[in-house]
Amino acid sequence: MLASHHCHIEPRVTSNSNLKNFFSKLPKAELHLHLEGMLAPNRVADLARKYNVPLDPGEIHRRFDSRGFAQFLELYKWATSFLREPEDYARLAEDAAGGLRSEGVAYAEVTLSVGVMLLRKQDVRANFHAIREVFTRSHAAGQGPRVQYVFDAVRQFGPEPALEVIERAAELRSEGVAAFGLGGDELSVPLADFQPVYLQARKEKLRLLVHAGETGGSQQIRDAIDLLGAERIGHGIAAIRDPNLMMLLRERKIPLEICPTSNLRTKALNIQLNAADPNIQDHPLPKLYRAGVPVSLSTDDPAMFHTNLTGEYFQAHQMGLAVEELLRINRAAFEQSFLADNERRTFLAAVDKYLFQSER
Ligand code: HPA
Ligand code: ZN
Repeated sequence: MLASHHCHIEPRVTSNSNLKNFFSKLPKAELHLHLEGMLAPNRVADLARKYNVPLDPGEIHRRFDSRGFAQFLELYKWATSFLREPEDYARLAEDAAGGLRSEGVAYAEVTLSVGVMLLRKQDVRANFHAIREVFTRSHAAGQGPRVQYVFDAVRQFGPEPALEVIERAAELRSEGVAAFGLGGDELSVPLADFQPVYLQARKEKLRLLVHAGETGGSQQIRDAIDLLGAERIGHGIAAIRDPNLMMLLRERKIPLEICPTSNLRTKALNIQLNAADPNIQDHPLPKLYRAGVPVSLSTDDPAMFHTNLTGEYFQAHQMGLAVEELLRINRAAFEQSFLADNERRTFLAAVDKYLFQSER
């Protein structure tokens, strides 16, 4: 529910730098954020040195500058191959907490690629505890966002390893693992194969997320909802090609986690728009939003896509969304989050307080 009585608030934003400053300080929620996607190029260099992997700076640069979805998955695989023990994840979490705080992210649902950890025979519990300790401590000190976790399986690895991800998530649910998700290549294994997996996740009282309609078609989104019971869709921009699906998302209040810069860099936008060289202004976010499809804004993998959440709000403004619409989208992110209602209210009150102060 959007609190309509706040919508008269239109802060004095007169220039792009004022706008960026205003949005960077606005208390924000980010719902689609991969911890491993926050691994910065200089940290990859540090880790390569630690593990005696010879790496020239040109290679790091070249990989972090790649475009296209396959190239992105390759970058993700390569960059995460340097995360080998809990202290590596702890260091990454330190960077992440500081970065999120500095751009005004008050609450984040942080996705961990547990499917990848398991593939590499890592101790998921130990990694998780190292990560959680950092986020909990920085939040308690007022130096980082409040965080809940999503344990992600990898689509192309198939249902068996995904069940193991759920086992780990279920063990750690009381420590802030709120949801189970599925990422990776949606053109690999059909979602129908994951039905038993999502039944199990539901049985373990995990919230249900699916990356769908990023590079795949709108049927992926329908399957995520109809076959798996997805509560939110990662990306979901393929919905723009399917007006009936847009109606269904609106009526059933199933939100899309929209990551504009990611869509541009992975060329998911090229696929969905059937365009050779689309611009960020061609992104379907304004159309989805104005059609009443619930949406939020996220960065996905900010280090790999060279973005941050304030930047995504700025991009959305460039797409033609008014400040007031962007403020509604930020409120919606808190509404769509897996926060308990009392905590949600506290965050929304902090948003209102910021808006009230910036009015004067
Ligand atoms: N899509 C698919 N796989 C991913 C993503 C994504 O957005 N981020 C990290 N792995
Ligand atoms: Zn993602």
